[in-house]
Amino acid sequence: MGVSSTTPHLLRAARGEVVDRPPVWMMRQAGRYMKAYRDLREQYPSFRERSEIPDVAIEVSLQPWKAFQPDGVILFSDIVTPLPGLGIDMDIAEGKGPIISSPLRTQEQIDRLHPLEPEATLPFIKTILQALRSEVGDKSTVLGFVGAPWTLAAYAVEGKGSKTYSIIKNMAFSDPTILHQLLAKLADAIAIYARYQIDSGAQVVQMFDSWAGQLSPQDYDTFALPYQQRVFQQVKQTHPDTPLILLVSGSAGVLERMAQSGADIVSVDWAVDMADARARLGKQVKVQGNLDPGVLFGSKQFIRDRILDTVRKAGNWGHILNLGHGVLPETPEENVAFFFETAKELNLAGVKG
Ligand code: CP3
Repeated sequence: MGVSSTTPHLLRAARGEVVDRPPVWMMRQAGRYMKAYRDLREQYPSFRERSEIPDVAIEVSLQPWKAFQPDGVILFSDIVTPLPGLGIDMDIAEGKGPIISSPLRTQEQIDRLHPLEPEATLPFIKTILQALRSEVGDKSTVLGFVGAPWTLAAYAVEGKGSKTYSIIKNMAFSDPTILHQLLAKLADAIAIYARYQIDSGAQVVQMFDSWAGQLSPQDYDTFALPYQQRVFQQVKQTHPDTPLILLVSGSAGVLERMAQSGADIVSVDWAVDMADARARLGKQVKVQGNLDPGVLFGSKQFIRDRILDTVRKAGNWGHILNLGHGVLPETPEENVAFFFETAKELNLAGVKG
């Protein structure tokens, strides 16, 4: 497939082309910091409605596009959205996050999981992604996303978010055979889901292994990395040209390992200096990030200085400008607007490689 001059900016950079400025988007760019989102939330109080009724999810996904014209428009959804399709019931509670009513703790429960059939259980995803693509055209890149096996297993086993991950670590360190079966089933389902998103219009897919940063490096090598690789390999087999991004929260200790996952782009948080991240990841790996979301509470001059600092350290190739994690709900919308305006005025001509 030829890359025409109308290929959007983010997709070009993600494929390794030299571009005049780094493309920019923000994680959680649709959400609570926007008044338009808070207003719509009053009409649709349930997260599952907001993310699964196509017209509502399309509108929410496009709110930041209409306000700021980011280079990436991400599907409004959640990493746990495909779980009911495997037979894992879930809801997303206000202020708490995902809740699994019958957490997976036994061999029997894992045996009962079924393969994912996205056409049957996630048809709304296709409708949403197709609409986003036709709305943004060549002006922006549509991103899909999935949760990684370890992080989805953490929700499925714990039943909700956790600070200590005691239940899944108990399983990992005392009965790993069941957990490995669960991780393998999740990896295959996630690969199917990522392919379905790409077939429906996603041009880049980001995988969130949010809770893999809770593992020691040796446990990351056992419970996270092999299953990240399993997902990425399966997706690359059928969709070799779709750039894949990997994010781990608190990834400073495992950056080099993330580079072995098969991801094209590693998302870097603010615990690492971007210049160090570049040096540790090597020349082939593209990067995303890495501003502290809290920077958007600073003055305009401060925000500008931090953007310039990250861009200089990332160099003139293979960088997608982003926050290191989701934008915080208390962030002033005006500062988000300033972040995008400033990023779009950059020119990499003076930046060293
Ligand atoms: O980036 C985007 O704009 C896409 C939207 C998106 C959501 N969840 C919407 C959402 C994405 C990419 C996610 C991924 C997700 N969900 C992750 C990985 C990213 C990360 O944070 O590390 C995780 C761990 C989840 C699980 C989850 N869902 C949590 C922890 C929460 C937050 C609970 C809270 O209220 O703070 C949710 C709910 C959720 N998903 C919200 C949003 C915008 C907040 C609830 C709301 O706005 O109504």
